[in-house]
Amino acid sequence: MILQVKDIHTFYGTSHILFGISLDIDEGETVCVLGRNGAGKTTTIRSIMGLTRPRTGSIKFKGKEILGQSAYTISRAGIGFVPEDRRVFPSLTVREQLEVAHKEGFGNWDLDKVFGLFPHLKNLQRHKGNQISGGEQQMLTIGRTLMGNPELLLLDEPSEGLAPLVVEALAEQIRKLMEEDITILLSEMGLGFAVELSNQAFVIDKGENKWSGTPDKLLENEDLKSKYLAL
Ligand SMILES: Nc1ncnc2c1ncn2[C@@H]1O[C@H](COP(=O)(O)OP(=O)(O)OP(=O)(O)O)[C@@H](O)[C@H]1O
Ligand SMILES: [Mg+2]
Repeated sequence: MILQVKDIHTFYGTSHILFGISLDIDEGETVCVLGRNGAGKTTTIRSIMGLTRPRTGSIKFKGKEILGQSAYTISRAGIGFVPEDRRVFPSLTVREQLEVAHKEGFGNWDLDKVFGLFPHLKNLQRHKGNQISGGEQQMLTIGRTLMGNPELLLLDEPSEGLAPLVVEALAEQIRKLMEEDITILLSEMGLGFAVELSNQAFVIDKGENKWSGTPDKLLENEDLKSKYLAL
């Protein structure tokens, strides 16, 4: 098991947001965390990343406790994070943003390999962050995170706000990424992109685990879908 989240309770100030979320992820798997608007997906990912530290519980990455460590330390340990709001640097070129993100790590990602996965970014390499579309920004933030060579990649709602054709292209690229040894966690509000790519799904609502299992089982569970997912 590469990541083991156990019974975490996370707060924003005095607001109690996560009420004992648990997740297990095996090496090399692609899993998704599904839940409606406000269910706690981003808070779960931020908790893993150390950006909003849970008050209690445990988060083990490759067997070592990381709960309580800084986001910097967690990132150095091999977890990469692509936030839902894709913060690209407006005045740096695509190529510069990729280059500054390069770190030695688990994989062998470099500029050429990222351009191999996202050939379109290669054509845009001299464009600045504010000159590219939302879909291109999503490719750039994923590419930039891969340049840090993480062992576990957290993608928060990567398909959000993208046109259907762009989402299809992104799904293809993530499928290619899945052929690498990297472990991936995706979040999404409903059934689509993330569940199609995943081997395992976790459904959360109001900061609690509601269900976990294979996508096949989820797709046939009408009750679960109508109760907890955006359709
Ligand atoms: N900075 C914050 N301060 C206080 N409450 C917050 C903050 N951020 C989120 N919340 C609350 O925490 C709960 C969980 O939010 P979270 O962003 O984790 O949900 P989500 O599943 O990612 O939703 P979405 O699909 O809209 O991104 C919501 O009730 C939200 O209003
Ligand atoms: Mg969110």
